[in-house]
Amino acid sequence: MNNSITCRTTAENTVDGNQRFDGVDLNALARDVGTPSHVYSATAVRQRISELQAALRGLDAEICFAVKANSNLAVLQLMNEAGVGADIVSIGEMQRSLKAGIPATRIVFSGVGKSEDEIAAALLAGVSRFNVESHDEFQTLQRVACAQQRIANAAVRINPDVDAQTHAKISTGKSENKFGVSIDEARRWFAGSARHSHVRLDGLHVHIGSQILSLEPYRLALDRVAGFWRELVQAGHPVNSIDVGGGLGVCYHAGTDRPMTATDYVDVIRAALAGYHGKLLLEPGRWLVAEAGLLLTRVIRVKHGASRNFLVLDAAMNDLARPSLYDAWHDIVPVHGDPGRPVTTYDIVGPVCETGDTFARARELPECAAGELLMIRATGAYGASMASTYNSRPLAAEVLLDRGRYAIVRRRQTFEDMIAGEQPAQNWQTP
Ligand code: LLP
Repeated sequence: MNNSITCRTTAENTVDGNQRFDGVDLNALARDVGTPSHVYSATAVRQRISELQAALRGLDAEICFAVKANSNLAVLQLMNEAGVGADIVSIGEMQRSLKAGIPATRIVFSGVGKSEDEIAAALLAGVSRFNVESHDEFQTLQRVACAQQRIANAAVRINPDVDAQTHAKISTGKSENKFGVSIDEARRWFAGSARHSHVRLDGLHVHIGSQILSLEPYRLALDRVAGFWRELVQAGHPVNSIDVGGGLGVCYHAGTDRPMTATDYVDVIRAALAGYHGKLLLEPGRWLVAEAGLLLTRVIRVKHGASRNFLVLDAAMNDLARPSLYDAWHDIVPVHGDPGRPVTTYDIVGPVCETGDTFARARELPECAAGELLMIRATGAYGASMASTYNSRPLAAEVLLDRGRYAIVRRRQTFEDMIAGEQPAQNWQTP
């Protein structure tokens, strides 16, 4: 079995048509754990990590996995086992990371809306660096650090005003986006940094967007960051860390999406930051886990509508929001390859009561019947982590596969789990 992950990750991880993934028979798995289920290959995750680590060889680099992409504890444990840290955007993500064994010294805290309480908790836990996104946050960090009598390590998140050439909703590096600050503003922060007795501002951070398939936006953004780093050093401000964010794209559409290799990406970083000898941080999320995951789902029924054929699945937009949120393409294939079957065109939809609950429109698929097991591919990132219980649909199970074995790493939510914490209005109080 070839486990290398390229554009055809899932296919290459399977044998006998599509029936095996990381050595596990998907039909048997679906019978055991039910559907819909998010399924992850530990082998594929490990491979991606080592590919990136190999590309970074020789650099003083640290990979901090963007926890938002997949926050399952078992996935975070895989990261920790491979020496990968965490990029968090909430205290919930920090708690998950710590629980998975990732030391606070390998955690960086990003995000435009860190509350004072979150800043205090992260500082107390000893997270290694705050990626600061506004002057107000900078001042809050100083206040909280002063109260705790600690020194906070900080990087300023630069908004380089670069078009990442990705979906507008996941583009973060344009000046009209809410993220980061301009180089002009950052320059003023450094000039006045002596006033911040408890914040050590000695880092730069940039993250321009997600699902980036071209090297050019990276080149542009990193050139701007590098220009600023050189200027700062000349002005006597040491820059001890540069965090280049995440954003590497993956293959969602076989034969169409052409992601860059880890080596090509790191070469752009090496070139832009030539002469920089401080710590380099990377925050990939999607690239490490997306293609290592699939969503196993069954066809509930085939509905022949007035103008379209619908495949109604037992998975829905609450299990995988990407198609409804971003019109994102995910390859969808039957687990039984069976090349002899005639092909039909379907709209592939879920049971949720919204037209947007559509995974694919006019998609060609081998003719399917009720009960057919399908896989929606490349769902390991921003799948389960963005799931909800909309329409009172319990959260799907999550399963980790590893060379022929599987472990349930999140049991399917029961109705009781789903309503835990809800109660009838009683014991009324006034604030
Ligand atoms: N660092 C920061 C500061 C981020 O905001 C993000 C993602 C990452 C790193 C990781 O980016 P990645 O390597 O995964 O592209 N839900 C959307 C993606 C939102 C990404 C948000 N920020 C989707 O499903 O496409």
